[in-house]
Parts: sequence; structure tokens; C-alpha cells
Amino acid sequence: MSEQTYMNEGIDSWNSFMLLYNSALKEMGTKVEILNDEFQHIHQYNPIEYVKKRIKTPESIVKKLKRYGYESTLENMSKYVNDVAGVRIVCSFTSDIYRLTDMIRAQDDITVLSIKDYIKNPKESGYKSYHMIVTIPIFLSDRVVDTKVEIQIRTIAMDFWASLEHKIYYKFEGNAPEYISRDLRECSSIVSMLDAKMLSLNEAIMEAKKEQGDPRPESWDRNAQAHTGDEDEDGISIQEEMEWNLHRSDLENEDEALNQASVQAGKKA
Ligand code: GTP
Ligand code: MG
Repeated sequence: MSEQTYMNEGIDSWNSFMLLYNSALKEMGTKVEILNDEFQHIHQYNPIEYVKKRIKTPESIVKKLKRYGYESTLENMSKYVNDVAGVRIVCSFTSDIYRLTDMIRAQDDITVLSIKDYIKNPKESGYKSYHMIVTIPIFLSDRVVDTKVEIQIRTIAMDFWASLEHKIYYKFEGNAPEYISRDLRECSSIVSMLDAKMLSLNEAIMEAKKEQGDPRPESWDRNAQAHTGDEDEDGISIQEEMEWNLHRSDLENEDEALNQASVQAGKKA
């Protein structure tokens, strides 16, 4: 059943919805972890540098509904707010992004609702990232509910750009001087050049290693040990990242609210 039907059956408390979204984040986290492990097994390197997960706060959900012109009801939330549960996957190379999206799309239990490829079609700001809205079935004791998750996939360089742009956007409350916006767009093309360069460099390294008859250089395993600190107990670093660089009118107070939500999600997990 959909989130909508779930609600029509009288399950209409805030907490039951949050339970769904939290479960969807956990499921998605595990899926991504398995894909990363399998990828490592086949290609001898980890495509994923790190993963961030976050649940939108009530304040932020209300704000978004208001922006869209809807009343704050659970029905409107499940219908119109696609990013209550969000997973951000940060990869090494652009090619990893498309490999991962193919792998995600191929999973039978995942339904892709929409895709926005801001890598092929960057935003006016220069923003690049690959976005998918998917649903994933959550198995409760007496029903299965397809629950929405927003997945953002980008390279480290794209992520670096987005966090700086977000800070600047904040600083000027959306009205950055033209020369700053222009420089940011320029940085965005530098990011693309860097990504392309790093990708071809990586390919050259792998080619050279192959020629030297070394099928599995140790350095390719570097990521296996790279994560320290905020580690998930069973493997890849799933940081309960506090501050997503939220977007535009979502922004005010959102970081603070997100902090609380992530901490809550972390406690429940
Ligand atoms: P929202 O209603 O803001 O969520 O936008 P949308 O539903 O049109 O989705 P979109 O795919 O455009 O953006 C979703 C998310 O991508 C935002 O919440 C941000 O995390 C990120 N994002 C989108 N545009 C930008 C941008 O210009 N700069 C930065 N730093 N992040 C962005
Ligand atoms: Mg959003």
C-alpha cells in the first residue's frame, strides 16, 4: 500500500509516519551498503566515499507545505513532500554515480518516481547532483507501506561546491552580489573539469596497473580503511550527518531543526 492508503486506513499520527520514514532511511542505508560491498567485490574499489542520511523536521515540513500553498496535514505531507527521508551518497567519480543509479533502479522492490539529473543539466546556480525520488516497501507487522525517499548522488567535488554555495547563499540570504554568483558558476565548471580529470587519471592508473600485471593494487582498497569516527557499526560510514546544505526557502532554522531530528533518529536507531 502507499503512504496515502496507510493514512486512509486511519494510521494518521505523526509518530507512525516518522516511524515509516526512519525505517525507509535504514532500509536504504543497508541497500547502499550492500551495493558498495558488491561493487568493491567486482571492481576492487569502493565507489562510495560517504553517505549522509537525514529526516526532515516538522518545522521544515510545515514550511515547505506553506511554500507550496498547502495546509499542514499528514495527507499533504505524504503527497507533496518528497524529501521527508533523504539519503545523500557521495562518490569518488562521476562514472560511479551512473553505475550506482543503474544498480538502484534495477532493484525490484524500489520504484523510481522521478529523476532529476543536474549533472547533465546543471541548475542556474551551477548546482550539480543526481536526484531520485523512490519508494521502498516498509514491512510493518500487519501491512507493507511503500515509503518515499529522496536520494541525492554526487561526487566529492560536487558536494564541496554545494556546501560552499549553500553557505554563501545563507550569508546573503539569497541575494548574493552578481560577481559572487558568477564566480560560483565558474567554480562549478572547474568542479566538472576536476571530476573529468580525476576520472581519466583513475582510468589511466588502473590501465597502468593492469599492464604491470597487478590485478588488485592495495591502494584501491584505501577506502576500506578510510572511514574513521562516525562509523556505522557494520561497515561503511553512514554518518548521521547533521547539516545537509538545505535549499533556498527551506533554509531558515532548518539546520538547527535538522540537528535535532538527526539526533532523534540516531537515538531511535
Ligand atoms: P525543493 O523544494 O527545494 O526540495 O526543490 P525541488 O523539490 O525542486 O528539488 P530539487 O531537486 O531542485 O532540490 C532538492 C535538494 O537539492 C535541495 O533540498 C538541496 O539539498 C539540493 N539543491 C538543489 N538546488 C541547489 C542549489 O542550487 N544549491 C545547493 N547547494 N543545493 C541545492
Ligand atoms: Mg528538497
